[in-house]
Amino acid sequence: MSQPATKVSLTGIKPTGEPHLGNLIGAIRPALDLAEQYQSIYFIADYHALTTEREPELLRHYSRAVAATWLAVGLDPDRTIFYRQSDVPEIFELTWIMACVTGKGLMNRAHAYKAARDRNVEAGEEPDTGVNMGLFNYPILMAVDILAMESDVVPVGKDQVQHVEYAADIAGSFNYLYGDRYSFTIPEAIIPDTEGAHTLPGLDGRKMSKSYGNTIPLFLPEAQLKKLVRKIPTDSTPVEAPKDPDSSSVFAILSQFAPDDTVAETRKRLEEGGLGWGELKNQLFEVLNERLAPLRERYETLMEPGSELDDVLADGARRARERAGRVLRQVRTAVGIEPER
Ligand code: ADP
Ligand code: TRP
Repeated sequence: MSQPATKVSLTGIKPTGEPHLGNLIGAIRPALDLAEQYQSIYFIADYHALTTEREPELLRHYSRAVAATWLAVGLDPDRTIFYRQSDVPEIFELTWIMACVTGKGLMNRAHAYKAARDRNVEAGEEPDTGVNMGLFNYPILMAVDILAMESDVVPVGKDQVQHVEYAADIAGSFNYLYGDRYSFTIPEAIIPDTEGAHTLPGLDGRKMSKSYGNTIPLFLPEAQLKKLVRKIPTDSTPVEAPKDPDSSSVFAILSQFAPDDTVAETRKRLEEGGLGWGELKNQLFEVLNERLAPLRERYETLMEPGSELDDVLADGARRARERAGRVLRQVRTAVGIEPER
């Protein structure tokens, strides 16, 4: 009997800021775990970032920083196809073809676009003020990222589930029209558990997020890491008083990075009293620094111009183009751009 083919897991990472501890816990680690069971395909969605990032230097920096981060924390490029979206021109040709089978009404209902319109209307502006066509077409490009690689599952945060459903819809429209010649695989979203314990709080106690400006970036120099950890808010409970570990951001972050027995021991000391917030913060800094220092070193080497990072991305692009090219050739024939073979 033949073995069932390994299913494909694909996700895109939009390079719009310095990767932070929350991204590691909520996105990078779960994706690296999935690479154990699936053929994994992960890429830097740099053309998606262009819909909002207007600083060329920043776009370049974030694209490189995000790629270096994934490699530094353990992505294995032999196992995972890892590339930059912009290095795969087949995706953009396919985006046009798929735009031709996508209803405009579907795009009008996309959450991100609708939210932008609602904000404008509320502010008394024209509904489409500040909306570029890249933002409007964003879900079609994302659908093609997914479909061009014949993905089965797409690990994403909750805010991206609608986009994966759109990819399935758009694939369905194509298959309805041309399915006797070529059929896209219908993808499905999978949502890593980022509720409760897996949502990391930031420097103000809210969810750690670039949009709140409350993040602890992963690869800060040691002194800055220490400074930020000191900034995490705590209440004024005296050292000797018992404390509730579950309402402490410092403890929440510690729980994700320290070994289980250390976490249990710290929980006990907080509940009994005698462990002050200052000491807890020192402990958190030590734990983080110990875990991150070797990764930071690898990251810094990868960030150097002409590093191994460039070879990894070039090889990933070659493999991604091969896959997307196979799909594109069949699609071009199916829709009547290429002669029948
Ligand atoms: P940000 O909120 O900083 O802009 P993104 O929206 O770019 O982060 O998120 C990228 C991924 O990281 C998503 O899958 C998201 O669920 C995950 N993530 C972001 N912040 C956190 C957090 N504080 N805790 C857990 N996961 C997070
Ligand atoms: N839109 C996703 C985000 O903002 C990034 C992304 C682009 C993506 N293309 C994708 C995610 C394809 C999954 C699959 O986070």
